[in-house]
Amino acid sequence: MEFDIKDTKLAKQGKLRVEWAKQSMPVLERIRARFSKEKPLRSVRLGACLHVTTETAALMHTLKAGGAKLRLCASNPLSTQDDVAASLVKHDRIPVFAIKGENNRTYYNHIDAVIDLKPMYTMDDGADLISTLHSKRKELLGLVRGGTEETTTGIIRLRSMAAAGVLKYPIIAVNDANTKHLFDNRYGTGQSTIDGIIRATNRLLAGSRFVVCGYGWCGRGVAMRARGMGANVIVTEVDPLRALEAVMDGFSVMPVKKAAEVGDVFCTLTGDVNVISKPHFKVMKDGAIVCNSGHFNVEIDLPALESSAKSKRQIRPFTTEYVLKSGKRINLLGDGRLINLAAAEGHPPSVMDMSFANQALCIEYMVTRKKTLPVEVYPVPTAIDKLIAKEKLAAMDIAIDTLTREQKKYLASWDMGT
Ligand code: ADE
Repeated sequence: MEFDIKDTKLAKQGKLRVEWAKQSMPVLERIRARFSKEKPLRSVRLGACLHVTTETAALMHTLKAGGAKLRLCASNPLSTQDDVAASLVKHDRIPVFAIKGENNRTYYNHIDAVIDLKPMYTMDDGADLISTLHSKRKELLGLVRGGTEETTTGIIRLRSMAAAGVLKYPIIAVNDANTKHLFDNRYGTGQSTIDGIIRATNRLLAGSRFVVCGYGWCGRGVAMRARGMGANVIVTEVDPLRALEAVMDGFSVMPVKKAAEVGDVFCTLTGDVNVISKPHFKVMKDGAIVCNSGHFNVEIDLPALESSAKSKRQIRPFTTEYVLKSGKRINLLGDGRLINLAAAEGHPPSVMDMSFANQALCIEYMVTRKKTLPVEVYPVPTAIDKLIAKEKLAAMDIAIDTLTREQKKYLASWDMGT
């Protein structure tokens, strides 16, 4: 079996960590049990490009139980958990191509190794696998029947491919399921980003000025949790509606340039480039901490930081101290890559349970449909989204009410007022 990982000797530790994560993933576990019996993915070749974490291992177990032949690579050079990669290879015989800290060339070689499987379905987090298939490996596109995409950034890329008429196979936008973005993006990113910042810096957040750039679901989650830690949270936005929402949620809102002058910690979650750039570094306070929790490492202008600095040193794991020509220090966390996966372990398993239940059920949906879907970016079928919400509640042992016949009738009527 081909694979490329850091060290197979890490497998024992990885196996224990995967077992721990699976204890908090009951919805995916039920799907796995059903897949083992029904084998809906029998003879399906599936290429996956995801963060290689304990939670992803649980998803791989589910897909393999369903009968799929898999290959997995990382969706970010810094997010791989090497012990998990080792466990997947050694204990589960799943070919993994991922090493934490791999350079860009190795990162794309690993994507190529997954494409060598000649996938019939793809599973992406950020759309790097799909975009490589559509550019460097076009000859295999005819074999691909469909794919799924995990994250907001990937869906933006795929929608622009669809609009430009270059997308060659249908995609289900897993991110857009309610049971995904309302929980994973908000509570998952909220907790894991704060976790990453604390693990990298060991700084007290209480009383700090914490700047959140971007008030999408991820930004909302981080702002909410930073406030919970006692930080004074400042939000920056470009969208008037989201800015207004942040104001009414009780946060200070101001342009990045103004926030740069007062912030102690900065976290970008916008999905766009150069949100924090040279003019901002220039006015930041000595010792400011800058990090990113958006998908790609483009949100902080790293070339501008490099060129503004007279020296730099690794002061702690995942913390690089840049000394600017003025003598001021700026601390960059995790090389500007997703701080929650670079310095911490990503979202906790109980929230990835729902995200990955969506992934498993959407692949099954595409495989078992009689007709292939036309080439578009699709929402997750509502029935799948609702089923996952119901099963998650049941797994949490939480019961809810149902409408009475009278209440249903009332909701369906238009002629009954007070
Ligand atoms: N994205 C964010 N957190 C993750 C995790 N724990 N596993 C896989 N993908 C993730």
